Amino acid sequence: MQALTFIDRRAETASAPHVTALDGNMSETGLTTGDFTQENEPFSLFGTWLKEAQDAEINDPNALALATVDADGLPDVRMVLLKDFDQRGFVFYTNFESQKGQEILGSMKAAMCFHWKTLRRQVRVRGPVEIVSNEEADEYYKTRARGSRIGAWASKQSRPLESRFALEKAVAEYTLKYAIGEIPRPDHWSGFRIKPTSIEFWKDGAFRLHDRIEFRRDEAEGDWNKVRMYP
Ligand SMILES: Cc1cc2nc3c(=O)[nH]c(=O)nc-3n(C[C@H](O)[C@H](O)[C@H](O)COP(=O)(O)O)c2cc1C
Repeated sequence: MQALTFIDRRAETASAPHVTALDGNMSETGLTTGDFTQENEPFSLFGTWLKEAQDAEINDPNALALATVDADGLPDVRMVLLKDFDQRGFVFYTNFESQKGQEILGSMKAAMCFHWKTLRRQVRVRGPVEIVSNEEADEYYKTRARGSRIGAWASKQSRPLESRFALEKAVAEYTLKYAIGEIPRPDHWSGFRIKPTSIEFWKDGAFRLHDRIEFRRDEAEGDWNKVRMYP
């Protein structure tokens, strides 16, 4: 097997002749929170990091890897977009008949991982899942582009599609069906909220001596305990 080699822009990388003063500064990018391990509450810290990611990342700062398990306990992971977060948890939207939808409805548990490459930061979230209220889902659905609302009807997400044409035909049919007036939200399209029992913040450190703190609690609404961990 051939080893893969990648450019490592970290300033301390001995074998990186391309390293410049700029590379050295890059590891300082966005460290406006100072020593984040002093924070006592995860949601405001997450908000600060997400805001800094919005300023730093080129695309999709709200993208996250969503992990689920199937009925056999086999893990599954894919990207989704965070659409809301507050003290109650982290919300994303999807088709409940999709693979992820079925896996979450089966376990009502999930995990998320954000990776902000430019900032060299990671946040991990785990916990039980609840379905957002119909009012909340409707409110978000209305903000989506008309084409995306049609798409929610036309796509039987994660099920076999015989041809691209079949999808385009379904889009055309629903466009005609909802040509006038509001496009209702499909019952099978809504949001899940992960109610965290664990949120871990990770920041890149020199020589892989990264900073990690995890906020943990037994219940999704309980008080947080903060634990610093070896990198
Ligand atoms: C950056 C990115 C963001 C995505 N956001 C969503 C999303 O918010 N909701 C969604 O259902 N799929 C989203 N997808 C598509 C999913 O990754 C996935 O392909 C699809 O939902 C089917 O997943 P499943 O078969 O595990 O259900 C996104 C993909 C990418 C690459």
